[in-house]
This record gives sequence, structure tokens and C-alpha cells, in this order.
Amino acid sequence: MNIAAIAEQLTRVGYVVVDEPLDPALSAALYRRCQDDGSSRFQAAQIGRGAARQQLGRLRGDVISWLDASNGTDHAYLLWMEALRLGLNSALFLGLFDFECHYAIYGAGTGYARHTDVLHGTRNRVLSTVFYLNDEWQTGDGGELRLFAPDGDGVIATVRPQFGTLLIFLSESFPHEVLMAHRHRRSIAGWFRVRAD
Ligand code: OGA
Ligand code: MN
Repeated sequence: MNIAAIAEQLTRVGYVVVDEPLDPALSAALYRRCQDDGSSRFQAAQIGRGAARQQLGRLRGDVISWLDASNGTDHAYLLWMEALRLGLNSALFLGLFDFECHYAIYGAGTGYARHTDVLHGTRNRVLSTVFYLNDEWQTGDGGELRLFAPDGDGVIATVRPQFGTLLIFLSESFPHEVLMAHRHRRSIAGWFRVRAD
């Protein structure tokens, strides 16, 4: 992975799509971890924090599971993201101090309505990342991620959630949505954070 190129794109356009930055064997192991076996590991996603926390299946249809550093596969992904964090900090002086991420599975017929990733009342998410785990995703499968212009309704990018693709964007700048998927759609959504002030 060329961190300098990622940093340059983030500075110039605010988002970057990276094709297959991870070792395919790690991506395959992540795919195997991103399966809802009916145990309580995956839970319906919630929107907001604290008192504002609600389950809003109409707006957001995924089930999620936070990565667990004691699992070898999850640990390998977190280590890789740690290298990216350090590299981006050296290149861009962002002061990113940690990374949080969860697996997400959208069932057929679900998506995530337009939103931004900066949680209400906090401004500590700086960079959003989404790593996609779907083999042979076809155009008719839906589920694209749409990034909107910072100041309006124009669509500036449509990203197919294809296996091995990593999307990184400035959390505060880009409203985005997940279009309705027509088959199970798997990913790891993550956020590099700065210390809340
Ligand atoms: C999110 C999100 C996008 C995607 O989890 O906040 O916007 O493509 N995910 O899965
Ligand atoms: Mn989001």
C-alpha cells in the first residue's frame, strides 16, 4: 500500500478508493469472520449515542459486530490499520489517535439512508474507512455507496462494494448513503479518531 498516494488523494479530493490493499488471504479470513451465525455476535445497528440511541431499521438495515483484538484475524486487520494510521499521521499531521471498526452485514432489501459519520455532539471521527468483502458483486446487486458533495446533493462518487476494495473519506465532509442491496452485503466500517475536546 502506498500511504503517500493515499495521503495525497485525501488532501486533494477528500476521498480515495484503493483496490486490494490487503493480502487476499487476510481479506478471505475477514470474509469468514463476517458471518452472522445466529449467536449474539452480530446485533442490529443503532444510530446515535447515549439518550439519542435508537434502533432505526428503516434508516439503517445492517447488523454489526465490533472487531475483537483477541481474535487473530481481527488483530491482523487492526494492525494493518495501525500502520495506515501512523503513515497518515506522518504525512498529514492529522493527530489520529485511534481506530474503531465493526463488521456490517446488510440483508437483501436493506441499506443505510443518507447520513454523515460525525456522531451528534462529537467531532472526533476524522476519517471513515469501509473495506468491502463481497465476491463478484454485480451491478444489479445494488448496495453501492454514494458519496455526496460536501455542500449539496450532487453525487461525487458511487462505489461498488466489491471484495478487497477499501474506501477512505473525510468523515465530516461527505454525506453518504448505502443504496438498497439485493443480496447480503458485507463490509468493515471503521473510523480514525482524534481525541474529543
Ligand atoms: C457506515 C456506512 C458505508 C458502507 O457504516 O456508517 O456509511 O458502504 N457504511 O457500508
Ligand atoms: Mn456512514
